[in-house]
Amino acid sequence: MNDNELTTGQVPEKEVWGDKAEKRRNVLKVIGWSGIGVFITVNLAAFVRFMYPRVLFEPPTRFKVGKPGDYPPGQVNTQFINKYGTWIVRQGDGSFFAMEAKCTHLGCTPNWLESQNKFKCPCHGSGYYISGFNFEGPAPRPMDRFKISIAEDGQLLVDKSIKFKGVPGKESNQMYPQSLLRV
Ligand code: FES
Repeated sequence: MNDNELTTGQVPEKEVWGDKAEKRRNVLKVIGWSGIGVFITVNLAAFVRFMYPRVLFEPPTRFKVGKPGDYPPGQVNTQFINKYGTWIVRQGDGSFFAMEAKCTHLGCTPNWLESQNKFKCPCHGSGYYISGFNFEGPAPRPMDRFKISIAEDGQLLVDKSIKFKGVPGKESNQMYPQSLLRV
């Protein structure tokens, strides 16, 4: 038997090398296609991200809260807390003001306790009169108010872009007569 002859079961050397080359080609193909796949995915994701810009959808700063006649005097309306973070207060004399539902201590939302005629903050116990004036607890100043006016259609219109900031020791009714709406 000469050197080029093979015994039974032996694989020709060329064939072995051919298999290895074929395997290498397949691996390279897989790597190549994976790379293309990743490239397409990344670009597709970037395109989708581009189509949905980073916009923060916040509630409008101006909103209507119904007709003055909907509000009995001497009452706090709490129905706009969740959506607008605002109480609509109609005082005993019939005047209105809109107050931000935010404690001036650390920003919690106080509760309106009708039976006690006061706002009470659940976080550290600050208390406020119906006017928003702080009288107990760590709150450093009265709660803030927003501009309230009458819209053309006769509804009450709150504008949160105009704010009357509570001043320590001062009643906002006196400090900011322009925060009151008399109809
Ligand atoms: S946040 Fe209201 S008392 Fe502290």
